[in-house]
Order: sequence, then structure tokens, then C-alpha cells
Amino acid sequence: MTIRKALSCLRCLAATAAVVLLAGAAYVYLGLYPIGADVPHNAATYWLLETVRERAVARAARDISVPGDLEASARLLSGGADYNDMCAGCHLRPGEDQSDFTLGLYPSPPDLTDAHDTHGDPASRDRRRFWIIKHGIKASGMPAWGPGHDDERIWSMVAFLDRLPELTPQQYQIITARKAPSIHSD
Ligand code: HEC
Repeated sequence: MTIRKALSCLRCLAATAAVVLLAGAAYVYLGLYPIGADVPHNAATYWLLETVRERAVARAARDISVPGDLEASARLLSGGADYNDMCAGCHLRPGEDQSDFTLGLYPSPPDLTDAHDTHGDPASRDRRRFWIIKHGIKASGMPAWGPGHDDERIWSMVAFLDRLPELTPQQYQIITARKAPSIHSD
């Protein structure tokens, strides 16, 4: 290839890139993107957001150490009561298959009573869940619970999530009930 041909090829590439950039900017500034939560993302945007989320969470969560007592019943009770108060409206209870939040939020909150979680071995899944609960996920309905709750409380929610798919609606109700405040005062 002569130098002249190579230069004209480069010019052609630069012109194409400029046209693509301008078209992208026009698409954004003309307000053409369907931003409503009731219209799903197109495949390319979906792939991009999904990949950004999974890669970022995997990197941020990789060095978190998982406590050895996640199976303790005190964790289950504390995590269960918190889950019922703060999470079940979006992530459902055993026996439910939808709520206004699962119908209306986009991305839709996953059903955490469903055992199907493909995010690696149990320890990596626990690390991932801990990180997501503590920090939340931008531009989705998932809040960061870290600012109002310490790590121990968050680990108890992770412990509860490990058991949640096995629970019947009755077991769920018993485990998640908060102990009524004592009426006796000494
Ligand atoms: C207002 C709705 C809402 C509430 C309340 C909420 N979440 Fe979420 N949560 C979401 C949404 C939406 C996602 C999915 C975010 C995404 O895909 O980017 C999510 C994702 C998650 C995930 C990751 C699931 C996965 O497998 O990818 C976990 C774990 C989680 N939430 C736990 C909790 C816990 C525990 C609570 C309560 C302390 C809670 N969430 C409260 C909306 C909510």
C-alpha cells in the first residue's frame, strides 16, 4: 500500500468515526432514547450495563472475607426480620410471584426466594451479595444499605438469603417475625 493510499484510508476511517459520534450525540440530545421503565433496553445497552455491573461487583467484592458463622440461628433471625421489613416488597416472600415493584421497576428486582443463583461457588455468591446489599447498584432500584446498617447486620441478611429458597410460607413467617417488645418492666 502506498503512503497516499494509507492516508486516504485513515481519513476515511476518521470521517466515519466522526459521523458515528455526531449521530450518537444527536440521538442523545434530541431525546430519542426511550427512558421509561416500561420499555426494556435494546440488546446492546442491556449487554453493556449488565457487563459493567458484573465486572465492577466481581472486582470490588473479590477480597471480602466471609464470616465463619453464617449458619448461626441468631443470624437467621436477625437477617430474616430485616429482610421482611426492608427487602421483601421488592424481592418477594415464599409463595409470592410478583409485587408492584417487580412489575414496575426496570431492571426488575430478582426473586430472591428462587434458588437459581448462578453467581459462582457459595463463598463468591455471599461476597457478591454482601457487596451489593452494602453499596447498592446505581441507576437501578437497589439501594445501598451500608449507610444505615453495620456489616454484621448485612452479613445476617446474607445468611438469611442463603436459607430463603428452602423456606415454606409458614416457616418464613415464623423466622421473620420480630420478637414483640417485652411488656414486663422490672
Ligand atoms: C426498591 C426495591 C428494592 C429494595 C427495597 C431492595 N432491593 Fe435488592 N435489588 C433491587 C433491584 C432492582 C436489583 C437488581 C439491580 C440490577 O440488576 O442492576 C436488586 C438486586 C439485589 C441483589 C443482587 C441479586 C442478584 O442475584 O443479582 C441482592 C442480593 C439484593 N438486591 C438484596 C437486597 C436486600 C437484602 C434488600 C433489603 C435490605 C434489598 N435488596 C432491597 C431492588 C430492591
